[in-house]
Amino acid sequence: MEKLILDACCGSRMFWFDKENPNAVFIDIRKEEFISCDGRSIKVRPDMIADFRNLPFDSQSFKMVVFDPPHDMYAGTKSFTAQKYGKLDKDNWREDLKLGFDECMRVLQVHGFLIFKWNELRIPVTELLRVFEMEPLFGHKSGKASNTHWMIFMKST
Ligand SMILES: C[S@@+](CC[C@H](N)C(=O)[O-])C[C@H]1O[C@@H](n2cnc3c(N)ncnc32)[C@H](O)[C@@H]1O
Repeated sequence: MEKLILDACCGSRMFWFDKENPNAVFIDIRKEEFISCDGRSIKVRPDMIADFRNLPFDSQSFKMVVFDPPHDMYAGTKSFTAQKYGKLDKDNWREDLKLGFDECMRVLQVHGFLIFKWNELRIPVTELLRVFEMEPLFGHKSGKASNTHWMIFMKST
């Protein structure tokens, strides 16, 4: 079946209602199952191990891309945050996220949508948007402390 949606770093697929949605292909840079430092079970089981900085798909393959990259560069390697959400490289996070964003846009069809989720714990949205060099259509803050932002970008050309 042709996949319509790419989840470019699916982690545990927490925000998916149907974690086996047949319209989506789920990728992540790791495949792991373990009990986290605080006893919670973490299962990262992508359909394919791949790097969002170099996606193994043709240009314009998907109608929608979901991009929810790691947001913390200072989390301890063995912390729950790093185990569950991964970790940014503190020296190269700008380059890595820009490459990831550009790759997500490359594999998106013209007039397709990129759904982006970000947590402002370390890096403000304004700084990140300067890195992406593109403005979202609209966005929304959520979470107890409103640190989490959802944004929708459209590929216009
Ligand atoms: C914030 S978590 C995603 C959470 C997910 N959206 C969920 O609902 O559970 C970020 C994920 O990005 C993955 N990741 C980090 N660097 C990556 C890369 N270069 N390519 C693909 N995935 C990457 C991490 O392994 C981690 O699982």
